This record gives sequence, structure tokens and C-alpha cells, in this order.
Amino acid sequence: MATLEKIDIGIVGGSGFYNMEELTDRREVEVETPYGKPSDSFLVGRLGGKTVAFLARHNRKHHILPTELNFRANIYAFKQLGARYLISASAVGSLKEAYAPTHFVFPDQFIDRTRHRVDTFFGEGIVAHVSLAEPICTYLQKTLYNAAREIGVNTHLGGTYVNMEGPQFSTRAESFMYRSWDADVIGMTNLQEAKLAREAEIPYATIAMVTDYDCWHEEEEHVTVDMVVKILRQNAEAAAATIAKAVTLIDLDHVNPIHEALKFSILTQAENVPA
Ligand code: ADE
Repeated sequence: MATLEKIDIGIVGGSGFYNMEELTDRREVEVETPYGKPSDSFLVGRLGGKTVAFLARHNRKHHILPTELNFRANIYAFKQLGARYLISASAVGSLKEAYAPTHFVFPDQFIDRTRHRVDTFFGEGIVAHVSLAEPICTYLQKTLYNAAREIGVNTHLGGTYVNMEGPQFSTRAESFMYRSWDADVIGMTNLQEAKLAREAEIPYATIAMVTDYDCWHEEEEHVTVDMVVKILRQNAEAAAATIAKAVTLIDLDHVNPIHEALKFSILTQAENVPA
């Protein structure tokens, strides 16, 4: 069962972002969920006057593929900890010339290209359909964007994130196809988190940190892991500083409809729904 820790804000860090030095009063917290174990133990501490929990999405030793992630356990654990907001930071490939490596994009839409993922808490007797027309919390997205701008990062507000399955990077034909769809960035993890966070009524937004031009660009090298890691090392500090500033700016009392996302979403008769 859940730990007694109570947090305000969750942070989930992707490739190359395994820790947040900025946390004070740090402690490690293990969380068990009905869906099994999250990716790692949580690093709980104080940041900007709030209590936060950091989770390394792929584990601090980076041994979990995007397809292997237990997204439900990760999001459920943040819910058990009491997270009112969930901030994600992830490496992405760019599908637009203007979004260069080291830039931060704050997407507001997704396209799902995954095939092997469980991305709902519902089923097995309970039917619910939450709205995903706006999959990102605009309040959190804008707070992150403003924080990144203040720090002096090259930023882009809005954009469509293609969530591919991986673990291989895209073929060139796929990369061209995503560009023809006018998509902006590509990554392997954020849509499942956004869906589950919405079902868990946790407002979610992501810092998409551009590391490469995927494989469509004629003058740039095709994406490699080396390239991703090199840019992320350069950017980890800016990402952490952006999150630290955003956490300070978040008003936990802001009235946010996502905290009631399930209110009109469950179709199953009340007597079938566990309390
Ligand atoms: N993460 C970083 N770069 C990526 C790319 N080009 N495709 C998918 N995920 C990525």
C-alpha cells in the first residue's frame, strides 16, 4: 500500500535526466501500486517552497525500454503520493527546421503511433471515456514555458508530439510522413503519461527537449543515441532550472478543471464502481 508521504508536484525525467540536485531534505521513497512497481524509487524533497517527488522514467540505471514502461504504476504512484501537478521532461527529435537541438518545445497535442502499450486504468468492468481534446494542462504548460523563457532557453509554445513505439528510431519515410502531417517533435513516452494522468485527474505538461533532427534533414546527421545524450548533458541544467522556477510559480489553489476530469466520464452504473 501507499507510503504516507504527501507531495504537491510530481516530476518525471527521461533519458539523461535521472536526478534533481536542486531538491533539499531529500529522501528516497518506495511506492507499491496495484499495477506493480514504478520505474524506480521516488526522490522526495523540497523545491521552491513545495514538496515534490522525482521519478527517473527509465530508472536511474536506464534499463527500461519505452515499450516496457509500467506507465500505470508510475502515474498511480504519483496519485497515491498526492501529486496535484505532474511535470515531464523528455528528449525529442525535431520535425521542423526552426526547432533546433537544445531548444525546448512545450507541446499541446499528440499523435499516437504506439502498438504495444496499456494506456488506461479502465476496463475489467468499469467503462469511462475522458476527454483528450486538450491532452496537456494549459496552465502548467504556460508556467513551464514562462519559466524556460526567464532562464533564457530558446522556447516554442505549442506543437504536436508524435509518440512512436520504438525502440528503433524512425525510418526516413516515416519521418517525412510525420512532417507531411505538420507534426513538430517525436518521442517515445509522453502520450501514455498524458492519457493516464488525465484519467487520474492530474494536470500534466511536458518539456520536450530537442536533441536531434530525426532523419529527415538533408544537412544534419541522422539521430543516434550519442547525439541525444550529448545534447541532453548540455541541457540538463536548463531543464532542472526551468522546473525549479516553474514549481515556485505554480499556484496549488488555481482552480483546474482537470482535477475533476472523471466527473462526467464514467458510464458504468455506480454500484459496479468500487469506492
Ligand atoms: N528521442 C530523442 N530523439 C528522438 C527521435 N528522433 N525519435 C524518437 N525519440 C527521440
